[in-house]
Amino acid sequence: MLAVPSAPSPGRIAQTLKRLLPGGAGGRSSPKGAEPAGGIRLRRFAGPSAFVGQMEPLRIAHLTDLHVGRVTPMRVQRAAVQKTNAERPDLVVITGDFVCHSQFFLDELEEVVRSFEAPVIGVLGNHDHWSGAREVARAIERAGALLLTNEHTTITLRHQRLQVVGLDDAYTGHADREAAVKGLRRDLPTLGLSHIAEEADALWTCGVPLVLSGHTHAGQVTLAKLHEITLGKLVGHKYVHGLYGTRKANPLSKGAVYVGAGIGAAVIPLRLGERGQREITMFELGQEPGSFDEHHEEQAPLPGRKPSERVKAKRAARVLEKQRKREGR
Ligand SMILES: [Fe+2]
Repeated sequence: MLAVPSAPSPGRIAQTLKRLLPGGAGGRSSPKGAEPAGGIRLRRFAGPSAFVGQMEPLRIAHLTDLHVGRVTPMRVQRAAVQKTNAERPDLVVITGDFVCHSQFFLDELEEVVRSFEAPVIGVLGNHDHWSGAREVARAIERAGALLLTNEHTTITLRHQRLQVVGLDDAYTGHADREAAVKGLRRDLPTLGLSHIAEEADALWTCGVPLVLSGHTHAGQVTLAKLHEITLGKLVGHKYVHGLYGTRKANPLSKGAVYVGAGIGAAVIPLRLGERGQREITMFELGQEPGSFDEHHEEQAPLPGRKPSERVKAKRAARVLEKQRKREGR
């Protein structure tokens, strides 16, 4: 997640909350529904109704924003892997920001990715590009995972075929939807992966009814809907955390997108509010939406605001600037 100059910094938010919360942030009177420090929420949703009858049920574990590095202890990463494996998913998908700000922890990243017992498919995020996409990709592939960079693949899990489309990171200008969906089959159940959730709108029209995303960390602080104010109003995200759109089959080429709260952090690990906790999400593809107790229903998107051409150019330049700095060292 990137803070914009006009948005309150995580440090300022933390200080304010420490003053406001009885007992202090993270103190004895922790927010309703919060788990102990380092706790990871497990959420569960059904897949799109279009998949019901089209496929044998599959369980997909979605993790995002691992941010393996200094800010997120390895015990958290290992706990995330353990919790995921305990659910015995058929596939693990990770939607970008594998690292934090550097390549110093690529061996640890490799260890984490390798520890998942199910096959792993991932896409890159802005932090991966800032830190060196090529090196991050190599670490992921050394761990035995498949990285999708503006492409799609069809895998067979328990005799069930699943098409997976993966976009490269849109924040830094690396997403190429046309390339990613070229040759996509409409007769197979298809899952989309994109670090940036707003890419889902266009993927839906290409026959991808469910897109899994990350990047926002759910704002990390969701008390008093602070995350919707900072990430929605100030940063301009339409999709901040959780499920949006529709999983019902409809003729309007609409679909659903899920924004995971992530596992790690890039700045400070503070997470307050039930929706802001570290999170692993299980998607039960082939099951009807609402057929079991889900965490929440589809939400309406926020108004959102597309980045200007100037902002996009600035973001792309930042990747090159970081690359030059790395090469100059
Ligand atoms: Fe990100």
